[in-house]
Amino acid sequence: MSLLTVENVSCHFGSLCAVNNVSMSIEAGELRAVIGPNGAGKTTFFNLISGMFLPTTGRILFDGQDITGMPPHLRVTMGMARTFQITEVFPELSVRDNLRIPVEIEAGYQLSPWLSRTAKGRVRERVDELLAMGGLDAKADRLVGELSPGDQRSTEIMMSLALKPRLLLLDEPTAGMGDQETYDITQLIRNLHKNLALSMVLIEHDMRVIFRLAQRIMVLAEGRVLADGTPGEIAASEDVQAAYLGKTK
Ligand SMILES: Nc1ncnc2c1ncn2[C@@H]1O[C@H](COP(=O)(O)OP(=O)(O)OP(=O)(O)O)[C@@H](O)[C@H]1O
Ligand SMILES: [Mg+2]
Repeated sequence: MSLLTVENVSCHFGSLCAVNNVSMSIEAGELRAVIGPNGAGKTTFFNLISGMFLPTTGRILFDGQDITGMPPHLRVTMGMARTFQITEVFPELSVRDNLRIPVEIEAGYQLSPWLSRTAKGRVRERVDELLAMGGLDAKADRLVGELSPGDQRSTEIMMSLALKPRLLLLDEPTAGMGDQETYDITQLIRNLHKNLALSMVLIEHDMRVIFRLAQRIMVLAEGRVLADGTPGEIAASEDVQAAYLGKTK
């Protein structure tokens, strides 16, 4: 059974069909990329999977359960997490405090007025583990708003991992980054995928990142699936070259 199955979903905004009859399934441990020109419907597709928008048609199964109408927070508790095209962190808090919030939520402590010493110790340990995994130890006490876009992105990715997801959706994790930061984020994603056996879907424009990471690639164009295959198949597809890379057949 696939971890995620998307069956024939569509999403309309007035007369615009932003996502048009798209199907996709993600196996446990798979790392899939979704690519396509600006406005192809990639972010809208993520919004459908994570429950921010409801599809006009089709259905979505997660771990065998129909989640088509389920609100976003319940999808998170089932093991789905995401990061955003524009990084979502608390810029006025330290890296450590940004991580502490989702760690406490995951542990079910967010409604407790105070935490026991044992609980606080457990939270601190988990935050330290996430700081180390994200390469953020040296910056733990810096305000996130003062960090580079790459470190802010690493913080956001580690915040989503604090929720212990089984599926992580990453919307353009290297957007707006220089070469070194793009490389660092790519390595982070690669290591997390390898070490945690996490399923991931990655929207990305940078071909170096896609071909270094993805096991399969789905190409969206004008809301439809133009192609779905291995990196080799996608690179060789004349349809993809014509529509996405702007080459003529
Ligand atoms: N909330 C919304 N209301 C109305 N139209 C929307 C909404 N969100 C997206 N759209 C439209 O849907 C289409 C797909 O947008 P989407 O953001 O999903 O594309 P994308 O593939 O993520 O593009 P990009 O690569 O620029 O991020 C676009 O034409 C966009 O203007
Ligand atoms: Mg987008």
